[in-house]
Amino acid sequence: MSDFEITALVLAEHEIFRREFAALDDLAGEELATAWESLHARLEVHAVAEEQLFYPLLAQEADGEQETAEGVHDHNEIRHATAAVAEHEVGSEVWWEAVRNARQVNADHMAEEETDFFPPFKEAVDDEQREALGLRWLAFHDDHEEGEGLSGADAEVAEVVATEVPEGEPSR
Ligand SMILES: [Fe+2]
Ligand SMILES: [Fe+2]
Repeated sequence: MSDFEITALVLAEHEIFRREFAALDDLAGEELATAWESLHARLEVHAVAEEQLFYPLLAQEADGEQETAEGVHDHNEIRHATAAVAEHEVGSEVWWEAVRNARQVNADHMAEEETDFFPPFKEAVDDEQREALGLRWLAFHDDHEEGEGLSGADAEVAEVVATEVPEGEPSR
């Protein structure tokens, strides 16, 4: 299987998020503010990419409507937890508390995806399609690198379940 298989790319980004949350502990001031802003933006890119390319097929092909509802619910919880960080002064005790909460909510969610959602998805969606989805995943990241064009608004389960995922590789 190539490096562009979608769950491999999702997992690789999970590992980046784990490292970057841990790395915040060693930063302060402007550096800390910038690192958090970038991580926050990329968590949103990751969530929307999954809502467009992963969860619709989990629901439609892997009989995973329940799992999709859980995943979207978690994404909205992560959205609220990360948005709450902005209410505090960077580096203050309450700020760190909010960041630690966001880290925990996100860590639990990533673990659930990896353990419970990837296996049925890989079972139901064939290699060729997962690779085409991986290319779409990369194209989506190119288009929205630091969250450009994304609102950060809550996702709706019914919309995600009904999303039509195009077949084949992106046309560029
Ligand atoms: Fe997710
Ligand atoms: Fe994820």
